[in-house]
Amino acid sequence: MGQVAVPGRVNLIGEHIDYHDLPVLPMALGRRIEVDWTAREDAWVNAASVGFEARAFRLEAGIEPWEAGDWGNYVKAGAVAAMQQWRLTRGAELRVRSTLPAAAGLSSSTALMTACTLALLEANGIQARFEELMAVLPEGEYFVGTRGGGMDHAAVLASREGCALRVEFAPIRVEPVPVPSGWAFFVADSGVKAEKSAAVKAQYNERRFAGQRAAARLGFAGIRQALEKADVDELRRMAESRLEAMERGCFLHVIGEAQRVRDAVRAMQEGDAQRFGERLNESHDSLRNLLRVSCAELDRLVEAAVESGALGARLTGAGFGGAAVVFCLEEKAERVAEGIERRFYGGAAGTRLFRAFPSAGALELTARAGA
Ligand code: GLA
Repeated sequence: MGQVAVPGRVNLIGEHIDYHDLPVLPMALGRRIEVDWTAREDAWVNAASVGFEARAFRLEAGIEPWEAGDWGNYVKAGAVAAMQQWRLTRGAELRVRSTLPAAAGLSSSTALMTACTLALLEANGIQARFEELMAVLPEGEYFVGTRGGGMDHAAVLASREGCALRVEFAPIRVEPVPVPSGWAFFVADSGVKAEKSAAVKAQYNERRFAGQRAAARLGFAGIRQALEKADVDELRRMAESRLEAMERGCFLHVIGEAQRVRDAVRAMQEGDAQRFGERLNESHDSLRNLLRVSCAELDRLVEAAVESGALGARLTGAGFGGAAVVFCLEEKAERVAEGIERRFYGGAAGTRLFRAFPSAGALELTARAGA
């Protein structure tokens, strides 16, 4: 018997660039998914979660997904991911609990899948390292049909309490960046569900492939390679003159966002709140105008946050709905929250607006539980 806990994450800055292997800056949330597990003698996995129908399947080669949208597919994805790398002989009873809102752009699906992977590994007496998990988890999520990058998995696993996490890809490398005292973050739900539905998935993939095509058209192997070979102003000129609208927008967003991440990390290290907030605001503008993944509600929410005294606010996660991340100084936090509540939620935000404290990822939580 045992328990694993995997938090959600909020991305502070670096949106739609992880799949181009460019660094991002998310942090883990206090809200999380917990899975109690009991190992079985046979290979059956029985998964239960309050409010959902129980699901059962056997650990074997060629596991097939249930219908699209079935919560059990994330449990299967967790198993499929683990089985890519390790031999699982025992199934488990899994009991899932969550304090993490779903479809809000906070990685609840990644947290659920990762929690199931970790629970099944533990039930089989296997202790996996971060790099090993990162080699199978993003891949495993293709089982449910989403082709994201590795940011979510890195954040929910490797975040440290009190820190944001700078994540580099190919090769994967993480660096905790302490959040200065006196800085405060909120997550605010736009109310527009960002389900990983077929329509949103197609929109997401379209952005990803347009960015790749743009780089290829300009003669580079990818956008990261373009940034390594040419300076940003030159790339901008090339994009303006040689790319059609969709490709140009994606390319310009990605190269700008990569620069903003670099500057935001520096601002955080130097405790420069004003500058950090400005980068967040610019990121939202770029996501809205260049990459075009915002929506009217998210734009209004971001505006309400800034009007209420936030230093920065932006949509977080894939976009097309979901949540915004709001940044302000601690001393203004109450006023900002009240302002957003009044301006955006018509006076009653309920659980749709909450403080995001930089929290421990699953690996730190496991280490603490074992200590
Ligand atoms: C989703 C994906 C991430 C990342 C974001 C956009 O959350 O799962 O890998 O691409 O979108 O930044």
